Amino acid sequence: MFSVLKLVAVCLLSASLVQARTAGTTTTTWDCCLPACGYTSNLSAGARGPVKGCNKTNGPAAPDAQNACFTSGGQAFSCSSYQPIIISNTLSYGFAGHGNTASATCCKCYQFTWTSGTAQGKSMIVQAINAGGITDTDFDIYTPGGGVGDFNACTAQYGAPAGGWGRQYGGVTSDSQCSELPSNLQAGCHWRWQWAGGDVNTWQITYRQVNCPSQLTSISGCTPASI
Ligand SMILES: *[C@@H]1O[C@H](CO)[C@@H](O)[C@H](O)[C@H]1NC(C)=O
Ligand SMILES: *[C@@H]1O[C@H](CO)[C@@H](O)[C@H](O)[C@H]1NC(C)=O
Repeated sequence: MFSVLKLVAVCLLSASLVQARTAGTTTTTWDCCLPACGYTSNLSAGARGPVKGCNKTNGPAAPDAQNACFTSGGQAFSCSSYQPIIISNTLSYGFAGHGNTASATCCKCYQFTWTSGTAQGKSMIVQAINAGGITDTDFDIYTPGGGVGDFNACTAQYGAPAGGWGRQYGGVTSDSQCSELPSNLQAGCHWRWQWAGGDVNTWQITYRQVNCPSQLTSISGCTPASI
């Protein structure tokens, strides 16, 4: 009897460790900056990277290129390959900013499921490629036309309006506004309105850390310590 109870207790404990999920929110971004995880000094313990940055036309950034968001004339930008990837009607892969402390999150992957909004019940697996100025339980999803936020390299990279496309925070407000973006970014803009079915900003989620799909680490060039 005792050992059965012990077994039950161990099973319950391991189930809670595996399934422990944290409540959070989603927001959107596309600032065209070299992401914070693009600096080796910002990586989480054990991560091999940094995440790739791109030149103005989405080729590899030169090794000595400066972040276009912080240096006038800088030639290191975000990469168009950081757009969301549809896996099925209920699962997408993608990239996100996560948390205020880069060294806590850089290159880790997370799975979340929306618990509100029109994507309620749908999930994403995202790799954290950016951090700083983001709530620790928020995922700031990379989706073109998602808002330039605090910094804007999209004017330098693509000739976007000074405040970015749509709202500075949150970006475009409808699927039809995606036509204002350059053609190589439109699919990832449509993802929000067509796959997620709405704005995505302030929707509620629950999430947990997961091991990264190789599809994401091969795009970012950064692999975190396994969990
Ligand atoms: C970006 O990199 C690609 C590939 O190396 C190169 O062909 C292209 O000319 C570069 N673009 C700029 C603006 O430097
Ligand atoms: C990332 O690293 C750069 C360069 O060391 C630093 O300036 C920046 O503040 C770091 N970002 C975050 C969010 O820690």
